[in-house]
Amino acid sequence: MEPRVILFTGKGGVGKTTIAAATAIKTSSIGYKTLVISTDPAHSLADSFSKELKPYPTRIEENLYGMEVNVEYELEKHWNTIKEYLTFFFKSQGIEDIVAEELAIFPGFDELASLLHLLNFYERGEYEVLILDCAPTGETLRLLSVPEVAKWYMNRFFGIERKVLKLVKPIADSLIDVPLPSEEVLDKIQELYVRIGKLKNILESERTTVRIVMNPEKMVIRESERAFTYLNLFGYQVDCLIVNKVFPQDSGKFLSRWVEIQQDYLSEIRERFPLPVFVVPFKETEIVGEKLYELAEEIYNGEDPTKVFYREKPIKISKENDETVISIKVPFISKEDLKILKKGGELIIIAKQWKRIISLPQSIAAKEPLGAKYINGELKIRFGVKNERG
Ligand SMILES: Nc1ncnc2c1ncn2[C@@H]1O[C@H](COP(=O)(O)OP(=O)(O)OP(=O)(O)O)[C@@H](O)[C@H]1O
Ligand SMILES: [Mg+2]
Repeated sequence: MEPRVILFTGKGGVGKTTIAAATAIKTSSIGYKTLVISTDPAHSLADSFSKELKPYPTRIEENLYGMEVNVEYELEKHWNTIKEYLTFFFKSQGIEDIVAEELAIFPGFDELASLLHLLNFYERGEYEVLILDCAPTGETLRLLSVPEVAKWYMNRFFGIERKVLKLVKPIADSLIDVPLPSEEVLDKIQELYVRIGKLKNILESERTTVRIVMNPEKMVIRESERAFTYLNLFGYQVDCLIVNKVFPQDSGKFLSRWVEIQQDYLSEIRERFPLPVFVVPFKETEIVGEKLYELAEEIYNGEDPTKVFYREKPIKISKENDETVISIKVPFISKEDLKILKKGGELIIIAKQWKRIISLPQSIAAKEPLGAKYINGELKIRFGVKNERG
């Protein structure tokens, strides 16, 4: 069986690390061999478990392992060849030494390194549950769009067919002043390209879900809505919301107004999101050790956290008469902020500052977009054969 992958994201400080750690303790105690990976450069997973974590799986207790990704370590270990070439490439373009070194780290390179870890452990099949404690929302969204962007970018940058490049190289080397990548670099790039493709498949798989951790506060709700919009747009399945730090009803007179405000926000959350909502009370003490297990019981009401609590594909393709319709969930956005473009075999959707490039299946790529509608948070684009006479 493929591993179950659960990603935790949310605004800064809402409780992602705590909830991820609690979830992992629960899944490992059920008997699933679990690995928690912290991708946030400001690691605090180790504090949650009160245990030092290495940049590779470190045993915490039976069935439970944790690690904190260290980007420099990654770069040294896996990326040297490509990095050297890029540095060389930029230098040949007259870009100064130090800058070249920095440029050699692609945008989103560090995030990509973390995600490729996920792929490694996924493929090894050693763990049954892989939990990712992600950086705050904005960075996570960037991270999750990296596989797609990187794939596109690499296609453009190194898009020449391997064989052609090999043939051209001896001639090209003397004609142009751009150093072409060596055989070794090409192999690495090719390999990376394939791995990014696989990573995308895992992230979009039925056994991978994202959980948004939030607090009942206005700004946090808005940010969570944006996160939900983009996660949908990128085709990632969100299966529940975890509303953390909710004051219990009997919090006393001093907090009574807060209790009311929070309850109002909770209702708002339940109304606006089409997702199961798990409520986690605010605790009086720090949540570490034993307390993490108790917290997990409260979060999931004793249920198995590996359950997929909500399933609806964010992107669907259907047939309507002789037209093909692509439906994409992009809730909480206004129509004016949506732009759609079709370029050859690619469908480009721009939702505010986010851009999604969807490679269309052959059957649709050949067709023309006939129209688009945005209803109830869902974008529907119709494709078919254009009738010249109307
Ligand atoms: N339900 C809760 N009750 C009381 N305190 C909590 C609760 N959940 C988390 N905390 C505390 O809130 C603080 C932030 O939690 P945590 O580190 O899990 O958040 P985070 O979302 O991972 O933060 P960051 O964005 O910095 O990674 C910690 O001190 C944690 O102990
Ligand atoms: Mg954290």
